[in-house]
Amino acid sequence: MKKLNPQEWTRFWDESAAITTFGTHTHKNYEFQILEFWQQQLSGNFEQVVDLACGNGALSWIAHDIFAKAKQSTRVTGVDIADINPFKTLRRKSKRYPLLEFVANTSIDQLPFADHSVDIAISQYGFEYSDIEKTVLELDRVLKPTAKICLIMHSTSSKLIRPTTDLIKQSSRALNEVRLHELYLRLDEVCNFPDSDSDPKLLAEEKKLRAAIAAATIDIGDHVDGIEGGAGAITKYVFNMANEFSAKAPRRSTNRRKVILEARTTLEKYLGRIEDMRSAALDKSGEQDLRRCLEAVGFSVDQGVLNYVKLGNIGSTLIARRG
Ligand SMILES: C[S@@+](CC[C@H](N)C(=O)[O-])C[C@H]1O[C@@H](n2cnc3c(N)ncnc32)[C@H](O)[C@@H]1O
Repeated sequence: MKKLNPQEWTRFWDESAAITTFGTHTHKNYEFQILEFWQQQLSGNFEQVVDLACGNGALSWIAHDIFAKAKQSTRVTGVDIADINPFKTLRRKSKRYPLLEFVANTSIDQLPFADHSVDIAISQYGFEYSDIEKTVLELDRVLKPTAKICLIMHSTSSKLIRPTTDLIKQSSRALNEVRLHELYLRLDEVCNFPDSDSDPKLLAEEKKLRAAIAAATIDIGDHVDGIEGGAGAITKYVFNMANEFSAKAPRRSTNRRKVILEARTTLEKYLGRIEDMRSAALDKSGEQDLRRCLEAVGFSVDQGVLNYVKLGNIGSTLIARRG
């Protein structure tokens, strides 16, 4: 399993111009129970808040709005290792947000704050991407003696992570074992040969290819049917390809090869994000290790599960306090 590197994250935030990584599950920004969780955690008087691994600032914007509504002059700083620029990407004027700033190209185990200067460290699907031991020591350095840490993290038991095991397995079968992609490319080639509609050898190969593709896609369809949420990417890929080669589609096409290659790139990007999420997610022992690290520097820790509208468990929560 492989995490995305900072350059890949930079591209992700830049290209998607999305505020969160949550896709269609959120409207504009995190809402419902997630928003309620943050409203609760951020009620109080704080001078300086840090949003760890902020991405395009989903949580930083939420925190900023909560403090603005409460007429508090709390400074919110989002820090990320990628070369982020949420004001630019999301087309918001920095002048309108004087108490909000983003620090790019900075790992959260090397925070740009003086010792004991931060009141609360928050993070959503960010903290667990870092070197946890180092980040806890860095938080110990920058947080005030009475500070708190509030996290929502990917967990291996969450509904966002669990179904992806099957999705990865089926996608890998489709792409690597059955070599569906190569079958599509060859079918395109065969259909484009000048005499492909009359040459018996080519017609026989076409028939064989179509049969192999049909068997593979039915099999994949049967397996992805039960996968919640994440099935979209592989099903979309198969449907797009089925359209390209349907009875209605032109037999010869100069554009189809490009479409097939682009569809694979899209699918691979999606799978890359899933691998990234899976490698960041903490299992029970990872969560216990984190608790021990925090207790070692004087925090008392409450861990829980976050249930989100229809999805159910979407990750673990952690609230650490000291003082
Ligand atoms: C899943 S995104 C979450 C972004 C954001 N918190 C949100 O809720 O939309 C994970 C982010 O962690 C960042 N990241 C990964 N490792 C990091 C590190 N060591 N220090 C700072 N940011 C890191 C990535 O660049 C990426 O933007």
